[in-house]
Amino acid sequence: MKPKSTLFPGLLFSSLLLPIFASAAAHNILPNSTLYASTPTQTWTSPNTTFSLGFITVGSAHYAAVTYNGFPVWTAGGTDSGGGAADSSASLQFLSDGNLRLVNGSSGAVVWQSDTAGRGVSSAALDDSGNFTLLNGSVPIWSTFENPTDTILPTQNFTTDNVLASGLYSFHLLPSGNLTLKWNNSILYWNSGLNSSFTTNLTSPSLGIQSIGILSLFDPSLSSPAVLAYSSDYAEGNDVFRFLKLDSDGNLRIYSYAQGSQNSTERWAAVADQCLVFGYCGNFGICSYNETSPICECPSRNFEPIDPKDSRQGCKRKVEIADCPGSGTMLQLDHAKFLTYPPEVASQVFFVGISACGLNCLVSGSCIASTSLSDGTGLCYLKLPDFVSGYQSPALPSTSFVKVCGPALENPPLLAGITKGNSRSLQAWIIVVAVIATISVLVMFGGGLLWWCCRNSPRLGALSAQYALIEYASGAPVQFSFKDLQRATKDKQSGQSFSWECRFKIALGTAKGITYLHEECRDCIVHCDIKPENILLDETYNAKVSDFGLAKLVNPKDHRERTLTSVRGTRGYLAPEWLSNLPITSKSDIYSYGMVLLELVSGRRNFEVSAETNHKKFSIWAYDEFERGNVKGIVDERLGDCEFDMEQVIRAIQVSFWCIQEQPSQRPTMGKVVQMLEGITEIEKPPPPKAAIEGSSSGTSMDISAFSNFAAPAPAPSSSSSFRTREISSFVLGRNAERATSVSFTT
Ligand SMILES: *[C@@H]1O[C@H](CO)[C@@H](O)[C@H](O)[C@H]1NC(C)=O
Ligand SMILES: *[C@@H]1O[C@H](CO)[C@@H](O)[C@H](O)[C@H]1NC(C)=O
Ligand SMILES: *[C@@H]1O[C@H](CO)[C@@H](O)[C@H](O)[C@H]1NC(C)=O
Ligand SMILES: *[C@@H]1O[C@H](CO)[C@@H](O)[C@H](O)[C@H]1NC(C)=O
Ligand SMILES: *[C@@H]1O[C@H](CO)[C@@H](O)[C@H](O)[C@H]1NC(C)=O
Ligand SMILES: *[C@@H]1O[C@H](CO)[C@@H](O)[C@H](O)[C@H]1NC(C)=O
Ligand SMILES: *[C@@H]1O[C@H](CO)[C@@H](O)[C@H](O)[C@H]1NC(C)=O
Ligand SMILES: *[C@@H]1O[C@H](CO)[C@@H](O)[C@H](O)[C@H]1NC(C)=O
Ligand SMILES: *[C@@H]1O[C@H](CO)[C@@H](O)[C@H](O)[C@H]1NC(C)=O
Ligand SMILES: *[C@@H]1O[C@H](CO)[C@@H](O)[C@H](O)[C@H]1NC(C)=O
Ligand SMILES: *[C@@H]1O[C@H](CO)[C@@H](O)[C@H](O)[C@H]1NC(C)=O
Ligand SMILES: *[C@@H]1O[C@H](CO)[C@@H](O)[C@H](O)[C@H]1NC(C)=O
Repeated sequence: MKPKSTLFPGLLFSSLLLPIFASAAAHNILPNSTLYASTPTQTWTSPNTTFSLGFITVGSAHYAAVTYNGFPVWTAGGTDSGGGAADSSASLQFLSDGNLRLVNGSSGAVVWQSDTAGRGVSSAALDDSGNFTLLNGSVPIWSTFENPTDTILPTQNFTTDNVLASGLYSFHLLPSGNLTLKWNNSILYWNSGLNSSFTTNLTSPSLGIQSIGILSLFDPSLSSPAVLAYSSDYAEGNDVFRFLKLDSDGNLRIYSYAQGSQNSTERWAAVADQCLVFGYCGNFGICSYNETSPICECPSRNFEPIDPKDSRQGCKRKVEIADCPGSGTMLQLDHAKFLTYPPEVASQVFFVGISACGLNCLVSGSCIASTSLSDGTGLCYLKLPDFVSGYQSPALPSTSFVKVCGPALENPPLLAGITKGNSRSLQAWIIVVAVIATISVLVMFGGGLLWWCCRNSPRLGALSAQYALIEYASGAPVQFSFKDLQRATKDKQSGQSFSWECRFKIALGTAKGITYLHEECRDCIVHCDIKPENILLDETYNAKVSDFGLAKLVNPKDHRERTLTSVRGTRGYLAPEWLSNLPITSKSDIYSYGMVLLELVSGRRNFEVSAETNHKKFSIWAYDEFERGNVKGIVDERLGDCEFDMEQVIRAIQVSFWCIQEQPSQRPTMGKVVQMLEGITEIEKPPPPKAAIEGSSSGTSMDISAFSNFAAPAPAPSSSSSFRTREISSFVLGRNAERATSVSFTT
């Protein structure tokens, strides 16, 4: 069986390659021949008439093109605006000196030429694969296949020297075998390589679209061509003609023409999301989708389209920034980003919050727009002149800002339709809004008054003793007395141990809470102090993550100056990067969560060192035991003989080991953690959570236990004392101040 399976690909490919070497003989075209734009029916055709070279008309311009079924696959001078456009009396002249040139009839101006004069060209031919060649005898001097414009045909060999171009867009094959799409020969908005299982360095890669619809990379160092893309109708039908084209919208596509069909069908596109093509909507244009297609709009009424008939031409300011010194303001665009691709990625990146991202741009003279990604990275990109390309979609977490001359005149979203409809319904709408607003204000005022009067009554005022309205409005931390808290939390500190079912619910609830902070909040919040004390439970054991005293949008620029005294968080739950000079990211929370999860399973402190744990830190010991298959030894013995889902326990243990990996990049995201806990995602075998953790327990200067300030317990409560929210949670699960770092599920 084996020889057969290795033989088959060889056979397949040799049969596919055959047409390259067996191109049909072509009709010879001799010098002194001319084609005229005025008689488009006159063409030079391939022997079996599949392809022809002649004039076509696009809009008011005339082009000399090799066509398939009337569809241009090569165009003299390209299709760039102005590139190959000729007038109605133009001619394509194959001169006696061997030069092929396209000349405007009115002026005699040369629009395009092959530059083959004096090279012995004695004839030309268009073959049945679509290759138009200028020959010296039988030696090819120049061909359309070697000088492609925007299309690659089957049997055409596209090398690293070739380029497809369409407007400002270009497509290249890199020596590495990567395919790239660029805008204006600078912005690289698509770069796709061979999959990582290829490690060989290529020698002279070339790209080809095979007639069955696969895009392959050829190279002497590859034993068989590597497949880069499949058209969706790959290997279907016998009479299908397929080709690869760089469209004027900047996307690279595979098209199919079924025999007898009058049109081509898109079968594959390099950039699945058209709005991610840089510059698709022109400068300052914002790309979004209606139900069916990408559409282009201006960011606000501070802008107007450059060409009202063609929204893809982009937008221009009604008032230039230079003309309004001092009154510049930032227009906010929610769910929008300005595309940022190499090479401009690195230079203008900052780590700041959303509004700061806008303000930074406002105060920077050269900045014209900015984007806060809000995807958990805290990244802010400042965009400099000259060109910005926007994308807006409800699915985008990003918020963007554009510098405009004040006031910012936002696009009317909902109202647009209504105004268009009729002004009477607009009036009705305004009245409804006004009435609702008035009623809400009255209700709120009444409620406020009631609350103000009754704020000291025990029924309504459970949490209000120190809850001054002024303090609340000022944004300062709200203070609660311990009594209030006891009442509010019903003083759940009686901490008998939890059942497994309940622990798992806490673990999952906590993970979901952190996922929300990391991934779903508008501004990514890194909590910085995930620990059991900061997990609050309601009466049905729904977990809530609390205590944002330490949470912040982390600025990695800070980390260089970060001193040990500035380390936040709590010993035992602190990710190793707090102690090294690495940036703090959401992955630091993952580490802390992993430690909490391990405690939930084991009922023991993660950094506990005892004879029972072989004088190793519990988390390290647990990994070794887990490796040995001793899951029972890790699990809290107080779960005892009660029934519990062993598979779930093992999942939780594995997830915890993934979370406490030393390398932040090795740790999963919180969203992934949720999926792993729920059993939606397979869990791979976790590597040992070694190095830093062991280092930190080895008594070196990196020993986290040396920083006693992290372990400082919350102050002992007295019924009269009041204290801030960030301190309360210690008492919700474990009331004893001395055990402030221990929780109900540990002893
Ligand atoms: C092309 O035409 C010119 C004059 O019209 C003539 O001198 C020349 O010999 C012709 N060349 C060929 C290859 O027919
Ligand atoms: C040829 O004519 C076309 C159509 O009038 C025009 O757009 C183009 O600029 C002309 N090309 C040259 C080189 O004069
Ligand atoms: C054309 O081909 C012939 C034969 O191969 C060769 O002798 C001649 O030099 C070529 N002409 C030019 C201009 O290269
Ligand atoms: C013309 O020739 C090409 C290449 O040999 C072949 O693929 C195609 O089917 C032929 N077309 C017709 C109409 O014979
Ligand atoms: C196309 O033309 C070039 C140059 O004449 C030649 O080298 C190449 O083999 C041709 N390709 C095919 C597929 O005929
Ligand atoms: C494509 O062209 C390159 C360079 O001319 C050559 O090395 C390679 O063999 C060709 N590939 C195919 C499949 O014809
Ligand atoms: C394209 O790049 C050139 C410089 O390489 C620049 O002068 C030109 O303005 C750019 N085009 C656009 C539309 O930004
Ligand atoms: C090739 O593409 C891959 C992504 O597919 C990318 O990671 C890699 O950096 C690219 N290589 C080059 C040389 O651009
Ligand atoms: C990588 O490419 C090879 C060869 O084409 C293929 O066998 C393998 O499945 C690919 N791997 C992935 C992850 O796509
Ligand atoms: C590929 O090329 C790079 C840079 O020239 C070199 O460092 C690397 O060792 C090469 N890899 C192989 C597998 O030859
Ligand atoms: C393209 O052709 C197919 C079948 O030949 C037809 O169903 C479809 O409507 C056509 N599309 C357009 C845009 O003409
Ligand atoms: C979406 O936009 C395209 C292009 O502007 C337009 O042709 C199409 O009718 C629009 N569809 C809807 C549902 O508005």
